[in-house]
Amino acid sequence: MPTSADDFHAFLRTRRSIRRFKPDPLADEVVTRVLATAIHAPSAHNTQPWRFAVVGRNGIPPKEERIANPLHNTRTRLAHALTSSMRADMTAEGAPEPEIEKRVATSIRRINEAPVIILLCRDVTAVREHKREDEIMAIQSVANAATYLLLAAHAEGLGGNWICWPLYAQEESRQALDLPETWEPQAMVFLGYPNETPGSKAQKNLEQVIKTV
Ligand SMILES: Cc1cc2nc3c(=O)[nH]c(=O)nc-3n(C[C@H](O)[C@H](O)[C@H](O)COP(=O)(O)O)c2cc1C
Repeated sequence: MPTSADDFHAFLRTRRSIRRFKPDPLADEVVTRVLATAIHAPSAHNTQPWRFAVVGRNGIPPKEERIANPLHNTRTRLAHALTSSMRADMTAEGAPEPEIEKRVATSIRRINEAPVIILLCRDVTAVREHKREDEIMAIQSVANAATYLLLAAHAEGLGGNWICWPLYAQEESRQALDLPETWEPQAMVFLGYPNETPGSKAQKNLEQVIKTV
């Protein structure tokens, strides 16, 4: 754990997206601690518009259970909601069928392999005013909570991956998890113990992103 500024910078810089997880379940208190830190993110006008639907606190249900009770299993319902809309969008874009099937199969595998999935939502009522700028600020605030969540997970030795798919199926994923109507899905995060070491990534340097004015 970081104990100095240098350590803290190193900690922040070593967070990476993890897409392969060990099947090991996460202790309930670890998930709670990660969420308890996420809610300390900054938010516009301190509205704290983030809401979290936690799928799989008790680990990954066995495959037989998911097949036997697809409608009673939140993970199966979420996978169905997300991949149905993925399939429809790709079909509308004219993607070849084998490509669609491959993408859907990979997505279902990833949903079924993530020990914990957190669907990040925005409470549409948590705004100062119903103006476009306030709504953008609320979405930015939810993104802050997602970043805090990923960093808190990193502090626990967990890996996480931000997934944008719910943005393409907001109503479907809200209904799949039976969430309140005011909860607008924005993204989801897969969490678990890492089962991969990501390779290096293309990283822009400071000169490319800064203009001193
Ligand atoms: C808004 C947003 C959406 C993302 N959506 C996805 C996604 O749908 N699938 C995925 O595998 N990674 C997704 N990522 C993760 C990025 O691919 C990743 O952060 C980026 O490649 C940099 O790698 P790093 O996180 O290891 O530093 C997303 C990240 C952000 C911030």
